[in-house]
Amino acid sequence: MTLNVTRREMLGGIAALAAVPAMAGTSGQMTILTAREGFARLAPSEYPETAIWGYDGGVPGPLIQLTQGQRLRRRLVNELPQPTAVHWHGVRVENAMDGVPGITQDAVPTGGQFEYDCRMPDAGTFWYHSHNQSAEQVARGLYGPLIVNEPQEGDVDHDLIVMVDDWRMTDTAQIHDSFNQMHDLSHAGRLGNYVHIEMIPKVTSLSRNDRLRVRFINPSTDRILRLRLRGMEGWVMALDGMPLETPQPLNGIVLAPAQRADVFADVTTEAPDTAMILQQEGDKGYVLAEFTVTGDQSRSRRQAPVPLPPNPVEKATVDAVTRQLPMTMEGGAMGGLREGIYKGQMMGMRELVENGQVWTLNGVAGLPDAPFAEVSLGETVQMSLKNETAFPHAMHLHGHHFRELRPDGTYGPLRDTLLVDRSQSREIVFVADNPGDWLFHCHMLSHQTAGMKTWLRVG
Ligand code: C2O
Ligand code: CU
Repeated sequence: MTLNVTRREMLGGIAALAAVPAMAGTSGQMTILTAREGFARLAPSEYPETAIWGYDGGVPGPLIQLTQGQRLRRRLVNELPQPTAVHWHGVRVENAMDGVPGITQDAVPTGGQFEYDCRMPDAGTFWYHSHNQSAEQVARGLYGPLIVNEPQEGDVDHDLIVMVDDWRMTDTAQIHDSFNQMHDLSHAGRLGNYVHIEMIPKVTSLSRNDRLRVRFINPSTDRILRLRLRGMEGWVMALDGMPLETPQPLNGIVLAPAQRADVFADVTTEAPDTAMILQQEGDKGYVLAEFTVTGDQSRSRRQAPVPLPPNPVEKATVDAVTRQLPMTMEGGAMGGLREGIYKGQMMGMRELVENGQVWTLNGVAGLPDAPFAEVSLGETVQMSLKNETAFPHAMHLHGHHFRELRPDGTYGPLRDTLLVDRSQSREIVFVADNPGDWLFHCHMLSHQTAGMKTWLRVG
């Protein structure tokens, strides 16, 4: 593998990594999570701090860490100038706690509060983010890591959370207020000009043969990340919070918006050297983080890891399928969409665009009044995802994890978000075992805003 390592030009070199103090207050039993304005050191020190919207005023928001089976209890207090709500991405919560305005709750107005209280059935790497006006609110920084620990600690030397976000900044490192521009909405979304890594805890030096667990999270509104490690070798242990049955040798990590990957990485480079996390763009690797590696001759490399313990998710099989649901994605630039239904009205493309809509799911733009399907609790559902657009989409189902049914009859890993490339058709299967109304949408939040969202009723 040859890798062309260059420094990121935009806004200078490697960004300073800001440690975010968790300043959560408590009220009774409920820890308060305040959505408010704040400042974050995102750009290098020669730039000013960036005005952000964040949980407890920071970005990422405070680390929420629980053990499998525990309850997450937070009182959201909204001090933002917009209504908001929190979604616990990838957690199979009960429906009322899913944080989706218009579906599971009303958006919390400025000055309002909402209490979230939900059980964490699965161990793994999750995240939380705003689910109201999310193309703007997530882009402003309203997200944080949610880690659910396995009951037993794993055999690693470092457990790191790595969130890599794509920011669109002005030349004074302020968030560009170009939200919801039709050109972004109809193409690949609001792509930024500054990719920034946050590492929790911040580690700068490693020893040879250290084993790291790295929990990669992509909170970007629209950017697909391609990440690489240098000086480390390892395995993908889990995707979207769900352990792989067989760890996969690590060879680059593709993360669509909202996706996660848990990696075990062994420091294999000869000390003294540096190990790196890189973002790949074309044939260039941009350094996101650098570690000095020191030698420790007394330690040798660990054996290949055993899989992480599985989560209690029922795996759907094709033989058990009782419902087949088509899901066709259309629209966008170069998509040739002629018309679609929006708010119950059939509209031509021009009229859709006037309403800020440019994508459809099964011919409908935006959230329909009725679910796209109603399935009974416990049914095994097969969805045929057909991407008839000229762009990739990161399709996310709430409340469930699904598996891909591959053309050769094998199953992919459990996921909550699947990247479907342009012109691709992919089959997913899942057991609809979580009652309620669940969103299904593109997690490129610009696409979601511009039409790619619908919902499924289970129960
Ligand atoms: Cu990250 Cu609708 O969710
Ligand atoms: Cu999309």
